[in-house]
Amino acid sequence: MRNQIAAANWKMNGSFSKGKELLETFKENFNSLPDFQQIIIAVPYPYLAWASQYATSFMHIAAQNMHHQTEGAFTGEVSAPMLNDLGINYVILGHSERREYNNETDELLKQKVELALKHNLTPIFCCGEPLNIREAGTQNQYVQAQLQNAIFNLSADQIEKVVIAYEPIWAIGTGKTATAEQAQAMHEHIRTCIQKQYSFETSQSISILYGGSVKANNANEIFGQTDVDGGLVGGASLQANEFVAIVKSLVA
Ligand code: 13P
Repeated sequence: MRNQIAAANWKMNGSFSKGKELLETFKENFNSLPDFQQIIIAVPYPYLAWASQYATSFMHIAAQNMHHQTEGAFTGEVSAPMLNDLGINYVILGHSERREYNNETDELLKQKVELALKHNLTPIFCCGEPLNIREAGTQNQYVQAQLQNAIFNLSADQIEKVVIAYEPIWAIGTGKTATAEQAQAMHEHIRTCIQKQYSFETSQSISILYGGSVKANNANEIFGQTDVDGGLVGGASLQANEFVAIVKSLVA
């Protein structure tokens, strides 16, 4: 069975005390999870070292980004080896907010994904189309190009270590979730693209998460889709009870 993952992306929200309250609540609620279920919490950089004390075999702490080079004169940046130092083993790469506000391109992301894998960090690679592409009906080609340009250069062994998050931009922070059918259709498309590029086995082994206004009241239906292996959750991951319920919605 593929890993089922509930990932929280706090983005640039909250505070130390809020983060502590959230992590304490998650710790209290989850003493263990089935082997194939994982919780991943992507916290802001300043909290990584502290948050890593909450990491367990099933609850991981993730970074929200990293630089595409290992060291150097890059003021304000954080490197893969620094994440290694803290025992961090997941990193979100290519979130649409970074693509938009920090001009991250597929070419840059290709370098980041390769570097993350080289340093034994699992990339949570984000893809997804903006509203105008969805309205034009060309979302499949758009997402396929993102995969092609940023991760399909990897070997089968490498790509099997990547987690993919499909996050339609029009559904992020808007309260406008993709329907379960829309999510399933895109996830199936992504899996087919992987199958064509690699193999059926590879396509079946990769966890593909849905992100975009996932809440406790829609997680069950979305996670219940055949090709959806969990979610990448923004707003609702900042409310302890909401995220606990979302984790409980993972397919058992
Ligand atoms: P929301 O859940 O707030 O829509 O954010 C989704 C997201 O961007 C997670 O990375």
